[in-house]
Amino acid sequence: ALCDIGFVGLGVMGKSLALNLADNGYQVAAFDLDQDKVDAALAQDKLENNNVARVQGCESFQALLASVKAPRTLVLSVPAGAPVDSVCRALIEAGIEPDDTVVDTGNSLWTDTVRREKQYAGLFMFFSTAVSGGEAGARFGPSLMPSGDLRAWERIKPMWQAIAAKVDPDTGKPIERAEPGNPVKEGEPCAEYIGPNGAGHYVKMVHNGIEYADMQLICEAYHVMREGMAMSPQAIAAVFRQWNQGVLDSYLMEISAEVLEQMDEVTGQPLVDVILDRAGQKGTGMWTAMSGLELGSPVPTIAQSVFARSMSGLKSERVAASQLLAAPQVVPMSDAERSELIQQLHDALYCSKICAYAQGFQLMHTAAKANGWTLDFAAIAKIWRAGCIIRAVFLQSISDAYHRNEDLANLLVDEFFAGEIASNQTNWRAAIARATVMGIPCGGFSSALAYYDSYRLGTLPANLLQGQRDYFGAHTFERTDAPAGEKYHVQWGTSERRQLKM
Ligand code: 6PG
Repeated sequence: ALCDIGFVGLGVMGKSLALNLADNGYQVAAFDLDQDKVDAALAQDKLENNNVARVQGCESFQALLASVKAPRTLVLSVPAGAPVDSVCRALIEAGIEPDDTVVDTGNSLWTDTVRREKQYAGLFMFFSTAVSGGEAGARFGPSLMPSGDLRAWERIKPMWQAIAAKVDPDTGKPIERAEPGNPVKEGEPCAEYIGPNGAGHYVKMVHNGIEYADMQLICEAYHVMREGMAMSPQAIAAVFRQWNQGVLDSYLMEISAEVLEQMDEVTGQPLVDVILDRAGQKGTGMWTAMSGLELGSPVPTIAQSVFARSMSGLKSERVAASQLLAAPQVVPMSDAERSELIQQLHDALYCSKICAYAQGFQLMHTAAKANGWTLDFAAIAKIWRAGCIIRAVFLQSISDAYHRNEDLANLLVDEFFAGEIASNQTNWRAAIARATVMGIPCGGFSSALAYYDSYRLGTLPANLLQGQRDYFGAHTFERTDAPAGEKYHVQWGTSERRQLKM
C-alpha cells in the first residue's frame, strides 16, 4: 500500500518524527542519502513495534515519490542552508508534482523560507514546520510551528496535531510523554498554523532567542551561587529544584538541576566542574538579535546572551587576563545575607525572564507588522507550553495576557506582569548590585533591568543625544513643544548659535 507521508533525512530528528507518525498510525516512507541511517530507522521501528515494520525504506528519491500517496507530503529533515535546496532540486529531477507538498522541518533562516516558497511555486508547494523539543520531543511530542500555503496546512494538520505535544487544558501543563507505540491523544496539541511563508521559522527563531536568554539567566544565578557564595553544584541543584516548584517551573530549570547533580564517571567530581566553559552556538540566537537590530525592536537580553556565548569562546584570552586584571575586594557575607541573596537571585531570574519574553514577543509583533503577517500571540504562547525547550508554566500567563488584550504593545504593561515586577523588583536590583560588587558578571539580569527601566521611563537621555547629532552633523532635532516631524537645527559653528526651523 502507498504511504501517507515520505521523509528525506533520517538523522536524530527525522527518524524520531517518522517513528512518532508511525506510532500514530501513519504509514511512513523514508529515504536518506546515507543508507545506514535508513537501516537504523527501520531497525528501531521494528524493535519498538514487536518486529512489525511500519516505516518503509526507499533507496532513491524516485522510489520515495513512488511510495507516497498523491498529492504527496514529503518532510525534509536535513541541515538548514544549502542541503534544503539540493534536496528540492533532487525531488524536482525525480518528478515531484505541483500539487505535492515539501515540508522543511529544519532550523532554516526565515528569509530562505520566504525565498523558497516563491522559487518553487508551480513545481510543488514549499511549506515549513519549525520543530522544537530535541530528540525526545520529536519522538514523543514536539512543539510545531507550521507556516505557508493554507491548502498544504489543511492536509498536514491532522498528522501534525496527532504527533505534537499535548497540554492539559485545565492545568495548562504538559501531559506526560508517551511510550513507544502508545501516543498521547488527549489534550490541546502544540501545533497551530502560524502564518504565511517565513512566519513559522521566524517564530521558531525568536523561540530560540528566548531559549538563549532563559539559559543564560539560569547560568548567571548559578554563577553567583557557585563563585560568589562557594556553593556546591549539588547545593545549587537543590535550590533549582525548589525554584522549579513555583513561578520558575520550567524544563530548562529542571534539566539544569539534573546537570548539576550529575557526577563525572572519570574523575568522580561533579560533571559541571569538568565541562569546559566554552559555549557553542548554531546561529539562531544571533539571527534573533540581528533581526531586533534591523527592525529597531530592542532585544538586549537576547543579544547579551549571544555575546555571553561569544565571550565564553575567548577562553585562552580570559585565562591570560585573569592573571592581569584586578578583581574587587572580597566582602564576607553572613548566613542571613546568603539566604537573602538566594531569594534575591530567584526574583532577579523571574523578572529578567519576564523581560526576555517581553523582548521576544515585541520583536514578533514588530516583524509581523513589517511582513504583513497576522500572528496570534496567545496561540504562540500556548504551543510553547509543552514539547519545546522553553516550555514553562509561565507561558500560560503570557497566553492569558494576550487573551486579555491581543494588541498588547508589550508584556510589561500587562496588569499581571506589571504586578509581578512591581513586587519583585527590589530583590532584582539587590541581586544585580550584590553580583556587581562581587565582580560576578550578570549581563543578562542587568540588560533586562535596563530594558525595564528604559521602557518605564517617559524621558530618556536621547534629548542630549539628538543635540550631539545636531552639533557635529546637522542631523536636526524635534522640539517637545512643536508638532512631531518639525525639524530644528542650531548653527553651532557660529557665535550667535541661532536656532532655525528647517
Ligand atoms: C529546540 C532547539 C533546537 C536547536 C538548538 C539550538 O527548540 O529544540 O532550539 O532547535 O537546535 O538547541 O542551539 P544552539 O545554537 O545552542 O546549538
